Formats: sequence, C-alpha cells, structure tokens
Amino acid sequence: MPFVERVFSGVQPTGNLHLGNYLGAIVNFVKMQETHSCIYCVVDMHAITQGVDVWGGPAELTRNTREVTAAFIAAGIDPKKHIVFNQSQVSGHAELAWIFNCVARMGWLGRMTQFKEKAGKDRENASVGLFDYPVLMAADILLYRATHVPVGEDQKQHLELSRDIAQKFNNDFGESIRAQGANDGLFFPLPEPLITGPATRVMSLRDGTKKMSKSEASDNSRINLTDDADTIAQKIRKAKTDPEPLPTEEKGLDARPEADNLVGIFAALSGRSKADVLREFGAGQFSSFKNALAELCVTKLAPIAGEMKRLVADPGHIDAILNDGSDRARAIADETMKLSKDIVGFIRRR
Ligand code: TRP
Repeated sequence: MPFVERVFSGVQPTGNLHLGNYLGAIVNFVKMQETHSCIYCVVDMHAITQGVDVWGGPAELTRNTREVTAAFIAAGIDPKKHIVFNQSQVSGHAELAWIFNCVARMGWLGRMTQFKEKAGKDRENASVGLFDYPVLMAADILLYRATHVPVGEDQKQHLELSRDIAQKFNNDFGESIRAQGANDGLFFPLPEPLITGPATRVMSLRDGTKKMSKSEASDNSRINLTDDADTIAQKIRKAKTDPEPLPTEEKGLDARPEADNLVGIFAALSGRSKADVLREFGAGQFSSFKNALAELCVTKLAPIAGEMKRLVADPGHIDAILNDGSDRARAIADETMKLSKDIVGFIRRR
C-alpha cells in the first residue's frame, strides 16, 4: 500500500529570518500547499541545541518562535487549510526521537557535516542535543509519516539519515509491523527531500562564495525579512559586484559569484529563469540591473515585512494559531505513537 503523500518541514526560531530562508525554504512551503497536505513546524526544540549564548535565552526563543510563525503566515501559508505549529507542543517528537535514538548508530551521526561544523574544534563541549539533532529531525518527519520534505541543500544529509532510520526501524521491527498488518511491513515511508527553484542557495551580498547567513557580522550581507523598503533597496545598491557588465548568457556567470547570486535572486523572486533574466539585462550596466532588482525585492518583500510586523504585534493571535495547529498535529502524532509503541512492545494504557 503506498503512503499518502504528505509534506513536512521545519524552520528553527533562531532569529533574523532572511532572504536565504525565504527563497530556500518558505517559498517552496507556500507552493506545496497547492498540491499536498502540509505540516509546517517551528522547531523550537532544535533551536536550543547550541549554547544559550547562541540561541539567546527564553525571551528571545519565545519572540523568535512567534516571528517565524508570523513569517510563515505573511508569506502565504494558510494555517487553516494546513498545519502550522511549534514542535515542543507535541510530545510525540521527543518520544519518537527516543525510539529512534536506539535505532540510529553513533557512526551515522558522527558523519554529519553540520554537527562537525557547528561543534567546531571543541567537540567535548558540544551538547548531546547538538549531536542528536538529526535524530530529532527524523522523528519530526516520521511522526507524521511525511513523504516529502522541502529543505535547503544543506539538509540533504540529514534527510538521508532520516531514510536510514526509517529503513532500519522497518527492518528491525519487520515481524512486529507485519503482525499489525501495516503496509506490507513498511511502517515508516522513506521521506524524500524536495530541493527546487533557481535560488535555493542565496549567497551573501558581500561575498558571493559564502551562504547568506544570520551569523555574518555585517547586516549589509543579507536582506532580513523584517527590513523595510528603504533598507532593502540600500542593501541591494551596496551589494558587491564586479566591474564587468552582465553577460548575455548563463555560462557567462561562471566564476562571477556575486553576479550569479544577484541574477539568481532576481530569477527566483520573479519566477523566471536566469537565462531569461539575462536576455533582458545582459550587456547592460550593473547599476540599472541593481535598480530593477531593488525594486523587485521591495515589491516582493516589503509587504511581507509589513504583515509580519502587524502579526507579531498581536502575540495572542499567533499563539492561538500555534495552539490550534498543535492540536491538529497531535491528533496525527498520537496515532503514530500508539502504533509505534505497539510495534516496539511498550505496554500502553488502553
Ligand atoms: N534542520 C532544519 C534546518 O535547520 C530544520 C528542521 C528540523 C527540519 N526538523 C525538520 C527541516 C524536519 C525539515 C524537516 O533547516
């Protein structure tokens, strides 16, 4: 029996959502709503895996959780037709993560590049949660038996780990699963990443070889989703470029990371291909392209910033959305947990 197609994705409430998060993830979340039933989660439990100095403490976490929720809604996610909630409100995430902790292998987690990068040299001092992060992520997805996961390029390895966990669970407990008559011995689907769009990797406006990031020191390196129109336009005008005019064909962008990035942003925001953008702007001066890009960014992003501002001004409303979403998420999660417990052999209250 094939699994019902379902989309799940998560965004960490760690502050400063920017254009990279928007084009790399949120735009796809919005699009998937047309074809799938979707669950979008503000992963507050993932947000605390680095030191409190990194995530900013309780007040920051609460504020950032509401801000990501506001961004989802301002960008066009419909919390009535789909599900928007924060992870910690559904206890199944932690419960399933524990079962998966006993399925996943140390060696698998030790190979995760994101852990190596975030832990840096001082691995002894990294939290256990940071190491275990991908297991919780697998639990997020599989708790809803989601089949499709829109994510950025950097999460591909974590998705592979989710598949390995799903597969090993299905194997380890195959007999028990078949005894329950579930999906020919397949209890969990093997979730697939959806990495699409011309600008899934938005680069820094100051260095086209580095990813746009909330942690880069200069605020001019990124366009924050909360930036107002003037700030957006100014940052685009100041963005690093090279002295050459734009090429007329896409291969002319090779070895020109800054030009490539700006053309990619234009393409993504306008829903056109890079080739098409270059047909219009190629051979022209950078300054006129930048003016057009600034205008496009302002048209697309300033309304989102305005709507976010309006939404975060009413935390009660946001919290009500999260409560309602959590209730509907929990209904699905509880069913998976009930079956998972039976499969593992845990006695549960009947
Ligand atoms: N690790 C993801 C990121 O940092 C966030 C995330 C947590 C997630 N759980 C998820 C993404 C489940 C997709 C599915 O981008």
